[in-house]
Amino acid sequence: MLHIVDNPLITVKLNYMRDEKTNSKDFRTLLDEISSLMTFEVFRDLKALPTGDKIKTPTGVTIDKLHLNYNIIVVPILRAGIGMSNGVINMLPTARIGHIGLYRDEKTLKPVEYFCKLPKVENPLVLVCDPMLATGGSACDAISMIKSKGYTNIRLLNLVGAPEGIKEVMKKHPDVDIYIAAQDEKLNEKGYILPGLGDAGDRIFGTL
Ligand code: PRP
Ligand code: URA
Repeated sequence: MLHIVDNPLITVKLNYMRDEKTNSKDFRTLLDEISSLMTFEVFRDLKALPTGDKIKTPTGVTIDKLHLNYNIIVVPILRAGIGMSNGVINMLPTARIGHIGLYRDEKTLKPVEYFCKLPKVENPLVLVCDPMLATGGSACDAISMIKSKGYTNIRLLNLVGAPEGIKEVMKKHPDVDIYIAAQDEKLNEKGYILPGLGDAGDRIFGTL
């Protein structure tokens, strides 16, 4: 299922990120803030359940200690996904972090894998993060890698998605919910999203 996280706070911040004049530092800060805001929508359906332990408030009342019904694993796709993971983790201090290393071959536009390290937890819910969903190749490969390690409960968080990429993920991984801030128009001949925001990894890390 596709969830477009439509909120004017996010739309205005994303609009600033799209501006070619926005520098690396501001770009990183905005991505971090949007990622935190989007986290609320991504996990809106989770439940706060009693752990079985109790806590006492300063007013002397004893109540249940609570925790989330899933153990969250945040998995940024290297490199650009790193720009989203801190914003997500700031909202989820108990989350564990995995990493998947993929880059798009500039000629074939196919993803090339170079790293995969995922934490093992009971009852996991994996959130894959990457600002850009262009052809969908990187996201589909990352999700396949995660599934091949035995994880079944997976969500995908992107900032901007092209219709082509959204369609591809929905076709190859219909069990994975996608959360994006904006569905853009199309891809150009080099596989860049239009209007998009350029090369997210380069803008985050200043490697332009
Ligand atoms: C970008 C982006 C995604 C991928 C999207 O990464 O961060 O991972 O491209 O394109 P796709 O949907 O067509 O696969 P890139 O390969 O540029 O690597 P980087 O994060 O290291 O910059
Ligand atoms: N990767 C990016 O960083 N930007 C795009 O527009 C497409 C893929």
